[in-house]
Amino acid sequence: MAKHRIGIMTGGGDAPGLNAVIRAVVKHGVGRLHWQVVGIEDSFNGLLDEPRRTVDLTPLSCRGLLHRGGTILGTTNQGDPFQYPDGEGGFRDRSAELAAAIQDEGLEGIIVIGGDGSQQIGARLMAEHGIPVLGVPKTIDNDLAATDFTFGFWSAVEVATEALDRLHTTAEAHDRVMLLEVMGRTAGWIALYAGVAGGADCIALPEIPYDIERFAGKIRERRRRGRQFTLFVVAEGARPIGADAPGHRPRGAAEQLAEALASRLEVETRVTVLGHLQRGGSPVPFDRVLATRFGVAAVNLIEQGRWGELVCLTGGEISSVPLSTLSMAPRLVDPQHPLLATARSVGVEFGAPLEG
Ligand code: F6P
Repeated sequence: MAKHRIGIMTGGGDAPGLNAVIRAVVKHGVGRLHWQVVGIEDSFNGLLDEPRRTVDLTPLSCRGLLHRGGTILGTTNQGDPFQYPDGEGGFRDRSAELAAAIQDEGLEGIIVIGGDGSQQIGARLMAEHGIPVLGVPKTIDNDLAATDFTFGFWSAVEVATEALDRLHTTAEAHDRVMLLEVMGRTAGWIALYAGVAGGADCIALPEIPYDIERFAGKIRERRRRGRQFTLFVVAEGARPIGADAPGHRPRGAAEQLAEALASRLEVETRVTVLGHLQRGGSPVPFDRVLATRFGVAAVNLIEQGRWGELVCLTGGEISSVPLSTLSMAPRLVDPQHPLLATARSVGVEFGAPLEG
């Protein structure tokens, strides 16, 4: 009889590094500690569907996963057992069914690899059904308050930075204003870091509604200095001053900004929307290392009987916080964040005067 038999699932949007976490849990938990680890497919749905969709994970079945994008377990945004789609446009609560399935599978508890939504579900499963849950944070947006970084973020920044490097040369060749739209509905971390890394002249963040005149002024100023092209990074949730915050699926932020510029200046604009290219493909080394650290730490916490925690990174060290105390408010870019001042010092325009 194995000492522990646990489930593991991935929930919400994917992020490069999910497979690296699964690999680390299995290599450490199964390979070294001789536990049983059961993969649950497509978030919690694998336990709610009939027949159930679970898979015994072994070091052999997890070979070659470190650099592989996506998730071998599959994932979905439609997997909330407390609000499960009933197929008729409504929802029903299937959390008790899920709790029964977990018991029936002989699972002591579940590692939930997911963003704020999945962690919230995990916390409710613990509080309302007594199911032991161990959280591992994930999102390319890097907007979870409990951890300095989530894996997937630096992979997204890498893709966005490479895109900026490519746009840079063609912008310069054609004397154009190039706008790159990146992910980030409410938090502009990808736009900020990629913008600084890729030498963007203007960065539009969801947290800082922009004054279009300031961006137009930046283009004019560059032209006076003989720079006929300008590079923008626009987070998908960016908006002009006075506009409402966009909804769950923002569209066209960069296009809107480009049109506003064209109505003020003699300018040729081109928009590139990076979309899910930021989420696909291999994790960069930082994300592989972080995902591996998170996976091993999750196993160690369970070994110590410390279910109910969320693994995180604070000050470069692995730590954890109780899931029950988790703030689900996204960690936004603070206009006082030192990187904004740094960016400003090298000439980046954010479309608004920055405090401090
Ligand atoms: O939350 C991560 C994220 O990548 C957001 O930045 C983006 O708005 C969203 O997911 C896109 O989600 P979907 O894959 O459902 O289109």
